[in-house]
Amino acid sequence: MTRPPGTGELAARFQSAFGVAPDGVWQAPGRVNLIGEHTDYNEGFVLPFAIDKAARVAVRIRPDSTLRLLSTFGNQGMTTADAAALDRGTARGWTKYPLGVLWALQQRGLPVPGLDILLASDVPRGAGLSSSHAIECAVITALNELTAAGLGVDEMVLATRQAENDFVGAPTGIMDQTASLRGAAGQAVFLDCRDRSFRLVPFDAESAGLVTLVIDTKVSHSHSAGGYAARRASCELGSEVLGVKALRDVELEDLAEAAGLLDDKTFRRVRHVVTENNRVLQILELLGSAGPAAIGPVLDASHASMRDDFEISCAELDLAVRAARSAGALGARMTGGGFGGSAIALTPVAAQRQVRAAVEQAFGAAGFAPPDIFTVRPAAGALRLA
Ligand code: GLA
Repeated sequence: MTRPPGTGELAARFQSAFGVAPDGVWQAPGRVNLIGEHTDYNEGFVLPFAIDKAARVAVRIRPDSTLRLLSTFGNQGMTTADAAALDRGTARGWTKYPLGVLWALQQRGLPVPGLDILLASDVPRGAGLSSSHAIECAVITALNELTAAGLGVDEMVLATRQAENDFVGAPTGIMDQTASLRGAAGQAVFLDCRDRSFRLVPFDAESAGLVTLVIDTKVSHSHSAGGYAARRASCELGSEVLGVKALRDVELEDLAEAAGLLDDKTFRRVRHVVTENNRVLQILELLGSAGPAAIGPVLDASHASMRDDFEISCAELDLAVRAARSAGALGARMTGGGFGGSAIALTPVAAQRQVRAAVEQAFGAAGFAPPDIFTVRPAAGALRLA
């Protein structure tokens, strides 16, 4: 995807679409998750970072309750709605994300005025890089400021989760919006999803002679579809049978006993979550002691666990990981909710070209559509641009 229009260009497009200047322009990034997959809704640990691809939104408050929404992507044209009558059932396409945020604000008793909204984004959609949360976080950051709602970041995290869960209909957790709102240049966000406490952790791949490659398989996924919810349900069943509040409370040493109490499938789902939580802590430790070059084997183990135990990978993701690893990546794993989307491959700069070529070649040989391969680095979280 091309860069979204710069601030001036977005404001100019807004002016020509709506006939007035916007009140301001905000931006919020997508994310990759370094490690900690499907652990957030199990009250576990995650370690994502905000990336240098973002959604941008130009907004103006209107004197009436009309909402007019336009984007530079999608082919929907202008959508009109009424802030006084937001309806979960009728929102279509990308408009679900901004409208879901406005609805979630209303659920909190906050007044939502009429608005003109123009959105742009270079976070690829359906690629597992959190394009929807980038939009939601840009919109909520804008609204929080424009309406002086006074929400703290933690409340914005919960409001966007409510938008996703109850308006969009995707039963997702809190990782993506936390990364988008709390991210910082050069840092990953270590988040304890039980109490939402967090800590920024330096992740400087470049200084270690590495790049983080994203391999977008172009296999599109949706977390409103059944697979994500089914994994969540398995985790809930597992914690119920094991008598814990959440799978966060199951330790590695408990797994042997859990195997005897759970059916095989539920046990493997549980084992993924328990071992993945452990891998987040391992990477945290390794980043502090040895640096990014040491984390490769843990990334590989995470991918194997998602492929074999949690069963959320697909042929394209497995091939991307395999090809990247055999061409010199230090470690690779699918990132995000799964069932398509992207893999990340931590790659020495010197091997970057051969890794890209090997993945492209392997996709061609397998008859898969060409992947999109690009580098990402930890970038700033949501902010006002103008
Ligand atoms: C999606 C969800 C997140 C998280 C990941 C899996 O990105 O939005 O809340 O559950 O999947 O780790």
